[in-house]
Amino acid sequence: MTLRGEAVTLRPWSEEDIPAILAVIEDPDILHWIPLIPRPYTREDARAFVNDEIGLGPHHFAIVVEDRVVGSIGMQVNDGGTGHAGYWCARSERGRGIVPDALRTLCRYGFDDLGLRRIELITDPDNHSSQRVAEKVGFQREGVLRSHLLHPDGRRRDSVMFSLLPGELT
Ligand SMILES: CC(C)(COP(=O)(O)OP(=O)(O)OC[C@H]1O[C@@H](n2cnc3c(N)ncnc32)[C@H](O)[C@@H]1OP(=O)(O)O)[C@@H](O)C(=O)NCCC(=O)NCCS
Repeated sequence: MTLRGEAVTLRPWSEEDIPAILAVIEDPDILHWIPLIPRPYTREDARAFVNDEIGLGPHHFAIVVEDRVVGSIGMQVNDGGTGHAGYWCARSERGRGIVPDALRTLCRYGFDDLGLRRIELITDPDNHSSQRVAEKVGFQREGVLRSHLLHPDGRRRDSVMFSLLPGELT
């Protein structure tokens, strides 16, 4: 399944993408804001990721712009018609609206093709860039999940919960 956005294409991952992932994934912001990413991040981690041996499910995509893999976006679908989205993009590609374009495309797919009735995402309270992405796409800020995530350095951090319902996509 390949999805087309305004400037992005979302397509399935393949083993050919492993070098592109390894080149950007150990960016300090990605590691800081996404506690589940292994560190150090090895070739075997990337291989397991692109082959979905880590249980993410079928709705995870490479974000491609002009034939370059620039990031990752995906959604886990839960019982009861809800999806949970997550994303990152390469440092050199930030600030150009790439992830909002990708998230809009993913959410349209979630509502129109998967029949979802709610899509949610969480960000760290201090991750203002990610919160801007959510707001640009029409997500509503719902509240704070206290002491929600355990980070690899032992910190427990709150999360901000955002959600998007059908008809709210902007
Ligand atoms: C959060 C992230 C996905 C945003 O993607 P993006 O494609 O850069 O999104 P945008 O271009 O819409 O920029 C969003 C905000 O980032 C900030 N920003 C702008 N340029 C930036 C840059 N070069 N570097 C970092 N942040 C920048 C701005 O606040 C911008 O909001 P604005 O357009 O209202 O000024 C990206 O910064 C990233 O991958 N961060 C690390 C991983 C991460 O935090 N993932 C989300 C976990 S919840």
